[in-house]
Amino acid sequence: MSLTRVSRSDSLELHEGVDNAAFQEDGGRADSEKTDGQVAADCPSSSLNLDGAESSYTQIKPYAGMSKEVLLLYSRQARYRLPREILFWLVIVSTLVLLAVNITVIALSPRCLSWWQSSPVYQIYPRSFKDSNNDGIGDLKGIQDKLDHLNYLNIKAIWISPFYKSPMRDFGYDVEDFRDIDPIFGTMKDFDDLLVSMHDKGLRLIMDFIPNHSSDNHVWFQNSRRREEPYTDYYVWANCTRDKLPNNWVSVFGNSSWTYDSVREQCYLHQFLKEQPDLNFRNPDVRREMTDIIRFWLDKGVDGFRMDAVKHILEAPHLRDEPQVNASQPPEQVNTEFELHHDYTYTQVGLHDILRGWRAELDTYSREPGRYRFMVTESYDYEEIDKTMMYYSTDFARESDFPFNFYLMDLPQGLSGARAQELVGNHDKPRMSSSVGKEYISAINMMMLTLPGTPTTYYGEEIGMENVHIHIEDIQDPFGKFDPNASRDPQRSPMQWSSEPNAGFSGNGTGTWLPIHPNYTTVNVEAQKGNDSSVLEQYRRLSLLRESEMALHRGWMCFVWSDVDVFVYLREQDGLDRAFLVLINLGRNATTDLSSISGLPEHFRVHTSTVPKNQGRSYDRAAVPTKKGEGLLLEFSSNQRFHTSHASSCYISERACYLNVLDIMYKC
Ligand code: NOJ
Repeated sequence: MSLTRVSRSDSLELHEGVDNAAFQEDGGRADSEKTDGQVAADCPSSSLNLDGAESSYTQIKPYAGMSKEVLLLYSRQARYRLPREILFWLVIVSTLVLLAVNITVIALSPRCLSWWQSSPVYQIYPRSFKDSNNDGIGDLKGIQDKLDHLNYLNIKAIWISPFYKSPMRDFGYDVEDFRDIDPIFGTMKDFDDLLVSMHDKGLRLIMDFIPNHSSDNHVWFQNSRRREEPYTDYYVWANCTRDKLPNNWVSVFGNSSWTYDSVREQCYLHQFLKEQPDLNFRNPDVRREMTDIIRFWLDKGVDGFRMDAVKHILEAPHLRDEPQVNASQPPEQVNTEFELHHDYTYTQVGLHDILRGWRAELDTYSREPGRYRFMVTESYDYEEIDKTMMYYSTDFARESDFPFNFYLMDLPQGLSGARAQELVGNHDKPRMSSSVGKEYISAINMMMLTLPGTPTTYYGEEIGMENVHIHIEDIQDPFGKFDPNASRDPQRSPMQWSSEPNAGFSGNGTGTWLPIHPNYTTVNVEAQKGNDSSVLEQYRRLSLLRESEMALHRGWMCFVWSDVDVFVYLREQDGLDRAFLVLINLGRNATTDLSSISGLPEHFRVHTSTVPKNQGRSYDRAAVPTKKGEGLLLEFSSNQRFHTSHASSCYISERACYLNVLDIMYKC
């Protein structure tokens, strides 16, 4: 059979009984080599219109080099068309199914934990972490030298207290230049190098940002005192005389928060030291300046900010006296923070708008994949937990990722998606080993690492460092100079790296900026590393466990029991049978009877204990023994979830279920 093009009509003719020329082995030329005339001569008769060809010529075979029209002819035949259409619809249907599955998986997937949620945040007080140039004071290069220690602890985020250029009246919280590094700590190049090293090692950098005040050495303040524009209103000024201050407001560090300035012949406000004048956030230029500073560091690549003392940012413009806590106290004797109700100086209307503005700025830098920029706010609201909760973002307004939780136990209630935070020490508070007792430090670390929020560890807590004793005449902290009992020096002593001189912190032969704690020969990183029962190794194990156990890093937290000695809570994850019961003993040796609590199994196995010999033991729920200061992580298996029957004592930040068969998480 062969085919012939009929030039006149553009239709094709098939000639039955003639072999397909393309398949002939006679060495004859293929159709393509023949002229139209020759082809016509080879195939003179029996022409057929293509419309009828499909039905009549089902036996024909395709051949190489067939023209489009021929191809179409074959392709219309049912034996080709049918499979083709089936394949076509299969592809369409499977694409749609895949798309639907993808959309469903995305819609049902819970948010992944971000870097600031998935590991502890570690606070470094840079003066005290590691001295690289042997001047007795820690510095940025020193931090860089010690990054492996943070990797060892499975830390992913570091908050470094201020290293801006500063006269150091409040050890860096008095900033002279918000865009420069203090020479004590190094250079801008040291900062850039540190940041690169941190990112290379998978560590994020959170900077301290101090918006409420600057140093009185700052050029803005110097210009403001001289009423040089545009700086005249950069600070909070009020008319006064040396003897008659504007009102009764007092500083956090004690005495009046007003100081008379002889150059401007007015008083300026300072809610901390007189060397820390309060910036005037009612001035749009100041707000712009501070936002530009945030951008400056974000452009450099920092991963987030700890916003210092935010509740102080705004004051009431009317400057009225604040009410005394004790109305009968003679007003001239009122000179400390806790003797006034701070109705006009703390948490003023407009504060949260400012913070939300900064959050928006951070968010514009968070769009790069994997570069979420984080914000934590510091506000001591004491008993007013509602005020602390205001810093959390809502569905409508994004603000802080979390405020520091100085309450520890007051977990957020009723705020879906909000992330709790646990903090048990910082540069302003006595060390845990000293305030609670060193026998409790491992249990406290266990509590912090097994509660649901992001744990924050102050340098040295991972080895159980204690407050150092400082003679009254050697006090360096300005707050301590006002009230020695309030001195923050004891918790700022140099990090104890080893039993070498100066605890391996510094090679300075003439000492360190604050004394080293005498226990450094035994309480140090080197001595504890590799010793399974040390505070350091227990910290590390729990930090790793927190990351690997879903129940610990994103599961339910249920309050189970507490008495004067023991605090008991449970961690579980929907979809997982394995759960943990945690007993933190902050009192004396105790035996806890949990048999009255429904939903608990009869027996538990000790997964981790801060008392190593208890490791692997099994306990009956009617009698769970804990030693004084023991932290006990018990594991058990149950197909019943505890939170379903104890809803009022359970909390979860963002609910998600684990699906074992597919090894995926979904919103539930
Ligand atoms: C809070 C800081 O934590 C503290 O150390 C500092 O003295 C004050 N803010 C003033 O900046």
